[in-house]
Amino acid sequence: MKVTVVGAGNVGATCADVLATREIANEVVLLDIKEGYAEGKALDIWETAPINLYDTRTIGSTNDYSKTADSEVVVITSGLPRKPGMSRDDLIATNAGIVKSVTENVIKYSPNAKIIVVSNPLDVMTYCAYLSAKVDSSKVFGMAGILDTARYRAFLAEALDVSPKDIQAVLMGGHGDTMVPLPRYTTVGGIPVTELIDSEKLDAIVERTKKGGGEIVNLLGTSAWYAPGAAAAQMVEAIVRDQKRVFPVCAWLDGQYGLKNIYLGVPVKLGKNGIEEIIELQLNDAEKALLADSAKAVREVMDVLDNMNSVQA
Ligand code: LAC
Repeated sequence: MKVTVVGAGNVGATCADVLATREIANEVVLLDIKEGYAEGKALDIWETAPINLYDTRTIGSTNDYSKTADSEVVVITSGLPRKPGMSRDDLIATNAGIVKSVTENVIKYSPNAKIIVVSNPLDVMTYCAYLSAKVDSSKVFGMAGILDTARYRAFLAEALDVSPKDIQAVLMGGHGDTMVPLPRYTTVGGIPVTELIDSEKLDAIVERTKKGGGEIVNLLGTSAWYAPGAAAAQMVEAIVRDQKRVFPVCAWLDGQYGLKNIYLGVPVKLGKNGIEEIIELQLNDAEKALLADSAKAVREVMDVLDNMNSVQA
């Protein structure tokens, strides 16, 4: 069973490495537009197999999509990363063109693939891939919620001095400053987090989570890759192993949460068919208002894409 990762930059290569090391696929194809780049990264990853003791073959390709044929899952990481001072939305025009062309090539060779979009601005690039793929929305979705909740969980683990494994959380909305961490749905070993931390500290963690991507950009001068790559690989695993895991994922909404025709982060069940269910939480009024704000922010960028025409054709 084959999984393709398009884009051999930091996020794509990290994702491919996790997929290989954890034997999530038998074959991982890493594809990039830059001559020799994916081949080099793939070879380097493959050369870790005798050290890390795994069988997965990792193969590189310079823009030859025939090598990706019949992939069960394709992860799209292509596009420019954020530079300091740049919002995710600044990237829209360039990355939309890239994501459209990548998606068309992917679907040509793997018409049944589940497509996971990682490119930014995430929610709108997922929408762009959906328009370009022309397949059911259950097969095109975006990775953001696992990354954003991982940051939230890591910060909580640090603050409470507990294992990050024991922190469960849900986070909704767009992958941007309007994302909606949900303390009411956050537990530590089954204990509501609100019983373990005062509200001031929790608020600070929520705020830090919202800016978690920017915190890394400011430190490194470019976007994060270890956590985004691992998060995308976790989604691939849920699909290829039909785990039916419950994750926050950027999904096409068709009336859920009172929202329609929009890609937004919501809890879903992820299995071999892609998004098998969108789970509707009973949000309170304050949470609903935050989600509506986030949807509005995402909608504005979707409108920018719709008005560009290029993707609709
Ligand atoms: C981040 C980028 C990948 O959140 O969006 O780190």
